[in-house]
Formats: sequence, C-alpha cells, structure tokens
Amino acid sequence: MYHHLLHRTLIPKIPPSSSPPKSNLTRGGISKLNCIQMDVGGVDSDGRAFTSAEEMWREAVGDGDPLKKSQWYSEGVGYWQVKEGVEATVDGVLGGYGHVNKPDIECSEAFLNSILAERFPDAGIGRRLVTLDCGSGIGRIAKNLLIRYFNEVDLLEPVSHFLDTARKNLAPENLMVTDDHKAVNFFCVPLQARCNLPLVSHIEFTPEAERYDIIWIQWCIGHLSDDDLMSFFERAKGGLKQGGLFILKENIAKSGFVLDNQDKSITRSDSYFKQLFKRCGLNILKMKDQKGFPGELFAVKMYALTTDLPKQTNNSKSKKHVNRPGIIR
Ligand SMILES: C[S@@+](CC[C@H](N)C(=O)[O-])C[C@H]1O[C@@H](n2cnc3c(N)ncnc32)[C@H](O)[C@@H]1O
Repeated sequence: MYHHLLHRTLIPKIPPSSSPPKSNLTRGGISKLNCIQMDVGGVDSDGRAFTSAEEMWREAVGDGDPLKKSQWYSEGVGYWQVKEGVEATVDGVLGGYGHVNKPDIECSEAFLNSILAERFPDAGIGRRLVTLDCGSGIGRIAKNLLIRYFNEVDLLEPVSHFLDTARKNLAPENLMVTDDHKAVNFFCVPLQARCNLPLVSHIEFTPEAERYDIIWIQWCIGHLSDDDLMSFFERAKGGLKQGGLFILKENIAKSGFVLDNQDKSITRSDSYFKQLFKRCGLNILKMKDQKGFPGELFAVKMYALTTDLPKQTNNSKSKKHVNRPGIIR
C-alpha cells in the first residue's frame, strides 16, 4: 500500500460480502486472533480474494504464533530499511509520489487548525503544545507542519536511516521557526507491542504519561495487525494530556481491506476503521477527506479521535414530536 500509496487501478474488484463459515472463525470456540470480524471480504495485491479479515490475518500473522507475527513485522520494516531500495527523501517515503506532499500538508494544516481552535484556544497563551509524529519517516510532516504549531515535537520511526535523516531535517539550523519550537525526542522503535521472542524483541513504546496534546499517526498504522493497533492506542491513550487527541490520516479501501504482500501493510475501509475505533474506546471528533490527490491513489481520510464520550445531541424533544400520533383537528 505505502510503497505506491497505492494505485487503485491494479486492485481487483472486492468480492461480494459473504460471512465466513463459523467453523473457520474459531478454533475450540474462541479464536486467538483479536481482530475485527469483518463480514466483508478483501483482496491482496496479487489478486487473491479473502472472505474475511480473520482469514487474511490468520494467514498473514498466524493465530497466536509469535514467530509468524515477527516475520510480518520484520518484512514490513525490512521493506523500508533497505537503504538502496527506499531513499530517505520525500519521494522515497511517498513511494514516488513526492508531488502529493504539498496538497497533503495543506489539507492536514486546515484540519489541524480547525481542531486547535476548537480544543486548545489557549495554545500559545499559556499552553505549550507537544506532539508525537508516529511512523515519522524522514520527518516530512514534523518539518513541514507540526514544528510550526507545536513547541515540542517527538518522532517515532523504526527505520534508523529515516530517523537519522529526520534528525538532520529538524536540526535547529534547518528550521525556520523560533527557538520556542523544537524537535525533542527521536524514538527508533515500531508502534507494535513487544513480541515474546528473545531474538526479535524490541523496546516497546509506551509514551510518557500525559505528555502530548496531539498524537499524529499518518500512513503507518496499516503495518499493524488489528490486535497490535488496538494495543498501541491503549498504551498511547496514557500519553495524552487532558483533552488531548489522536489524528489518524490513512488510505481508505472502498470496502473491506486490501493487503499489500510486498510491504506487509493493509489498507482498511472506513467502516473497518470505525469498528476498530469503537473497540479502542475512541470517538470521532471530526473527520475530513483529503482533496487534490491524483485519481489513481486510494482515497485518504483524516480522523480526529478522542477518548471523550460522544456529544449528546439534545434532540429528544423533536424526536418525541415526530413519533407522537398526529392530532386530528
Ligand atoms: C509511507 S511511509 C510514511 C512516513 C511518514 N508518516 C510520512 O507521511 O511522510 C511509512 C512509514 O511507516 C514506517 N513503519 C513501517 N512499519 C512500522 C511500524 N511497525 N511501526 C511504526 N512505523 C512503521 C516506515 O518505516 C515508514 O517510515
């Protein structure tokens, strides 16, 4: 998905919805796979159809098999790690679509502005803003957007040559911001939880408690399985300040999911994401579609996600009125 962000035209038609047989879903009644039981099937980049997300995940990461899962992640990170393969440039992290950087940043900035105005009207007047850029790559978003709005920007990226470049890109002498805006921490770790294999274990990222106003996650969550995605949000929630939120910007499949066999990532549909958000206890504060991208790319959506309870709409009065039997005069 990410290496070419991806050309929809190559993706075969998603098969019609069909519920997988119950016997395939569970083993001994309870499946170890903590993934969304999507009724809608999906496809992979080689044209293979899956009847459910569970079927796809079982094959991709195994059913509780740590070795298989670690293989999925090492191939995913490995795709980006090959220095000769993926250059540490904007064009490299955008899979040859460097020209979408401008509309991407412009649309994200408008979205961010609307959220800052609504959630943090005291920003800059007493409130110092801190953010974390997840799967930051070379710091494209941190440099072009986040550093201008946030006093402190942390970056998380598992690929060391990307993070080294991010360090250079965000060095004070390469920035056009005041001293009060700086990149602070560079975490060279992935988003997923540690797996139980001694040779492939990594330090698990759990953010410092209540450090961030916004945690930005763009074009990287597709590398995570459903259970790791949920576990990441659970750990990351503790990193949010009071009133803090997540901004997730991602490619969106028309329906179900699309698995990329090459870079080991999955593009989820809007309804797939919404089911995951629900499972994570996250509510959508705001969402917006990306505009101005070439037509061959996946649709892209931005979601602002909070742990707040959804706003109560006080329409009980009008509902009562609608449902009341009409009075015959
Ligand atoms: C398409 S690039 C996007 C980079 C950056 N977010 C941007 O928009 O410029 C995908 C990024 O996800 C990172 N990535 C891959 N697997 C990851 C994982 N398991 N956890 C966190 N990031 C991962 C890659 O190293 C790469 O930097």
